Amino acid sequence: MRLLVLGGTWFVGRVLVEDAVGRGWAVTTFNRGRSGPDVAGVHLVRGDRTNTKDLDRLAADGPWDAVVDVGGAEPRSVGLAAQVLGAQARRYVFVSTVSVYRDWPASPVDESSPPHPGNPDLVVEDPRWDAERYGPHKAGCEAAILRSVSSDRLLIVRPGVVLGPHEYVGRLPWWLRRMARGGRVLAPAPANRPIQPVDVRDLASFLLDLVGWSASGIFNVAAPAGHATYGRMLEACTAATRDVRGSDEVEIVWAEPDWLVEQGVRQWTEIPLWRVPPGTWQVDAMRAAAAGLRCRPIEQTVLDTWAWLAAGGAPVWHERQGEHGIDPARERRIIDMWGLRSDAAASEQRLV
Ligand SMILES: NC(=O)c1ccc[n+]([C@@H]2O[C@H](COP(=O)([O-])OP(=O)(O)OC[C@H]3O[C@@H](n4cnc5c(N)ncnc54)[C@H](OP(=O)(O)O)[C@@H]3O)[C@@H](O)[C@H]2O)c1
Repeated sequence: MRLLVLGGTWFVGRVLVEDAVGRGWAVTTFNRGRSGPDVAGVHLVRGDRTNTKDLDRLAADGPWDAVVDVGGAEPRSVGLAAQVLGAQARRYVFVSTVSVYRDWPASPVDESSPPHPGNPDLVVEDPRWDAERYGPHKAGCEAAILRSVSSDRLLIVRPGVVLGPHEYVGRLPWWLRRMARGGRVLAPAPANRPIQPVDVRDLASFLLDLVGWSASGIFNVAAPAGHATYGRMLEACTAATRDVRGSDEVEIVWAEPDWLVEQGVRQWTEIPLWRVPPGTWQVDAMRAAAAGLRCRPIEQTVLDTWAWLAAGGAPVWHERQGEHGIDPARERRIIDMWGLRSDAAASEQRLV
């Protein structure tokens, strides 16, 4: 199997390439060689995906059984790559996101839910991360590819939250480091809130299986409902970091989510992986499950991510890392306020 991966050195792309090389596939990666280290065993082509000449030079290395555009986020350059490389690929694959759905996270979504109206010609002038623009931009990327690649040759995977070793967004690494510090830890109730993160290795393996079967179409990729809870994830982080914490125990303080919102706690970032809209963790991924997606237990993802960090693993730098986590002094203050509120509620009950 001949595979071309656009990218391949940060997180999803890196793990995908490692898996493909492990399967004995002939893998070419295309990137600028600026950020993450290359995976051993690949054929490297250096170049900039926004540059037509670089893409033409890359196309001369084809054909491939599949081309995977992993990190594309700008509609015009994603469309350009599909235009230049599409004819050299039996299958074209795009790693998209559930953020393309217009109603996510407000409402549950499946593959038939309406996407944002994306502009396939859009040039992104300001490359800084922007949560509001991310979904519409990725929708524009999907539309841009469809101009050059017919839908029967196109595979689009739309993952929800992806966790695991090499994660550069900084969600699970923050929680692990927080638990490693010990003490009273602010967490959003309830502990049994279902969550659906997918392990990056399960995403990669599923995507490559689909490529192997020449699949096309759209697949949401998320762990099935009931696979994990917020509480289990935090317990796993607590257990994984026990050795470095020593005698400093963790006490998880579960506070009501609406009250946290009233205090101005920023959802999704200040407390990573927590947000209140009801559709957040209601991504229907039954089509992927029926096609063979298997999700390892959250405890395994947590353990392996900690093992990677503890062994000196460092993600590529990304501006999003800085937006995650709550300042320790602010966390203490909010926990104290929550405690006073709970004490007041208890004495009120005694008076009734
Ligand atoms: N994390 C999540 O929870 C989550 C959830 C849903 C969907 N997703 C999707 O998953 C994907 C994650 O991808 P990833 O970042 O991990 O992919 P990746 O393929 O591992 O890394 C991005 C690659 O793009 C290369 N690159 C960047 N700019 C380039 C340019 N101008 N020309 C050529 N190469 C360039 C980088 O190398 P150089 O810098 O060296 O060029 C790097 O190899 C994204 O599409 C994201 O939307 C993520």
